[in-house]
Amino acid sequence: MNGHPVRERIRHNSTDPGPVAGVGHSYAKAILLGEHTVVHGTPAIAFPLPALPVRAVARPAFAGTEADVLAAGHFRFRTGEAGSASGPRVAVEEALRRWGLGDDIVDVVVECDIPLARGLGSSAACAGAAVRAVAELYGRAVAPGTLYELVQCGEQVAHGRASGIDASAVLASGPIWFHEGTARPMTVGLDAALVIADTGVPGSTQHAVAGVRRVLDRDRAAADRLLAEATDLITAAATDLSGGHAAALGTTMLAFQRLLTELGVSTPHIDTLVTAALDAGAYGAKLTGAGLGGCVLALTATDLAPAVGTALRRAGAVRTWTVPTASLRSDALSLSASRPERETHR
Ligand code: PMV
Repeated sequence: MNGHPVRERIRHNSTDPGPVAGVGHSYAKAILLGEHTVVHGTPAIAFPLPALPVRAVARPAFAGTEADVLAAGHFRFRTGEAGSASGPRVAVEEALRRWGLGDDIVDVVVECDIPLARGLGSSAACAGAAVRAVAELYGRAVAPGTLYELVQCGEQVAHGRASGIDASAVLASGPIWFHEGTARPMTVGLDAALVIADTGVPGSTQHAVAGVRRVLDRDRAAADRLLAEATDLITAAATDLSGGHAAALGTTMLAFQRLLTELGVSTPHIDTLVTAALDAGAYGAKLTGAGLGGCVLALTATDLAPAVGTALRRAGAVRTWTVPTASLRSDALSLSASRPERETHR
């Protein structure tokens, strides 16, 4: 334990032992448009989901927290442990190494309310919360760019070659336009609702990204055309989002879903949910995230959101969440979770 500041504080100030734990938070994210193509150089639009939070608590390992019973969705890791490291652990170990504390052993408990492997950015969000917790434990200020880099270190482990959209979105305070590693805040002038539906099927981002690469490599000229079309759709979506053109944005989402289907990342279950949302009156719908399972995102008029949610659950979604687009405008996003009609896990 080289130069452990927390330990120092405990030892040298018995009346005020100082913090023995650091706490960090982050959120889930949803990609509006640009998943997969963003890996190949297009922009993408994404936003954080604060009602699906992650909380991480970091303690010096000598505090002995191993006996705690963890709730479902919660997990623990210890830096420097033998065995393959998760994305959050890689991010924290890289942070400690950069601070010259690579030999320190820290226990991190991650309380994750984000369903795993559903395209909602759980790995990036857990890494973001864990790094923030360890930074607080050590009293370190971490610049936003550094935090992004650290989360990205973990994402490369979790996903292979990650574009950085997840790392950017889970650390953002509102919708972002992401292009080639840089995120900028976006204007939202839309009065509608987004309904997110969980297929209940976990998808592997690494597997999906590898499959898309194979499709694109098969015919480079066709790949260039597809990526150019994707860029046009994403650019149009940004205009529709700021200009409040819900119907046009829905059409754009459907066109992007067609591209994702060509790339091989949709599934019959996803197609069924997209159709159910449209039949219930949604402007448009598409998968969000890596696909091959995961979640579907539907855009709908606000008054139709409950019916669209019900239709999605009837069509097999295990749960839905509704995000008013007006809430995307402010820094404090809000998300109202709808009651799942039935909870089944496949
Ligand atoms: O892991 P997911 O489902 O949140 O998706 C990440 C988005 C991808 O474009 C599929 C991969 C990437 O690195 O951008």
